[in-house]
Amino acid sequence: MARGVTYLEGEIFIMALDRSNTPNDLSAFWMPFTANRQFKKSPRMLVSADGMFYKTADGRDILDGTAGLWCCNAGHNRPKIVEAIRKQAGELDYAPAFQMGHPVAFELASRLRDMAPDPFEHVFFTNSGSESVETALKIALAYQRAIGQGSRTRLIGRERGYHGVNFGGISVGGIVNNRKFFGSLLTGVDHLPHTHLADNAYSKGQPEHGAHLADDLERILPGHAETIAAVIVEPMAGSTGVLLPPKAIWSVCAKSPANMEFC
Ligand SMILES: Cc1ncc(COP(=O)(O)O)c(C=O)c1O
Repeated sequence: MARGVTYLEGEIFIMALDRSNTPNDLSAFWMPFTANRQFKKSPRMLVSADGMFYKTADGRDILDGTAGLWCCNAGHNRPKIVEAIRKQAGELDYAPAFQMGHPVAFELASRLRDMAPDPFEHVFFTNSGSESVETALKIALAYQRAIGQGSRTRLIGRERGYHGVNFGGISVGGIVNNRKFFGSLLTGVDHLPHTHLADNAYSKGQPEHGAHLADDLERILPGHAETIAAVIVEPMAGSTGVLLPPKAIWSVCAKSPANMEFC
């Protein structure tokens, strides 16, 4: 078929733009975090990638400044990665992890454990960041219960934080638009203030101001200290602007009696 020409029910339909790689019907795919009608009027299709660049349907190279959605950090189409995926798919594409195992999963877990700082000892695999957050929240609650502190059920997030799209994640997350349609969500959640401060504009590296905001934990704590199961914050926020943690914020947080989870 000639490039830019689509054959439609016996007619020859010549597209105004070269979209030979663009599907004719875009309606079925409901795109996340996207103005769907606007996108589908004027689609921006990426059809391949190599190294730091995507290739668009009309043949342009686009610099991938965000490594996909922060998930292709080693670059696209890296021969070693492509070969490893190809080899594994040909050997064993999936093995259940319930009551059965596959040696490679154990090997990966050991390698990750060895890279992680003390006291991390175990790895729990999930399919997405959202699922990781739900799991981390559940582990925190179950842990408190298991050590006889079942009254610790309160979870503390931070304004402007993004922790994915599931109920737990949007509850502890601090992006109001992401939770405004969904009722009461998880109950017993408080939020620390964000650190997106005018004083920090144009900072190089970690900004100077804002560590004191973690002291807000002290404001939330009185009367609640015994009820907090975990605090969850992104070390570096990414979804409402890339917000580096203010200098010294972790030492302030470390004084907290609650569990800290960094996602
Ligand atoms: C800190 C954090 N938590 C959770 C998520 C959700 O991850 P996913 O989009 O894989 O569900 C993200 C995604 O960017 C994230 O940055």
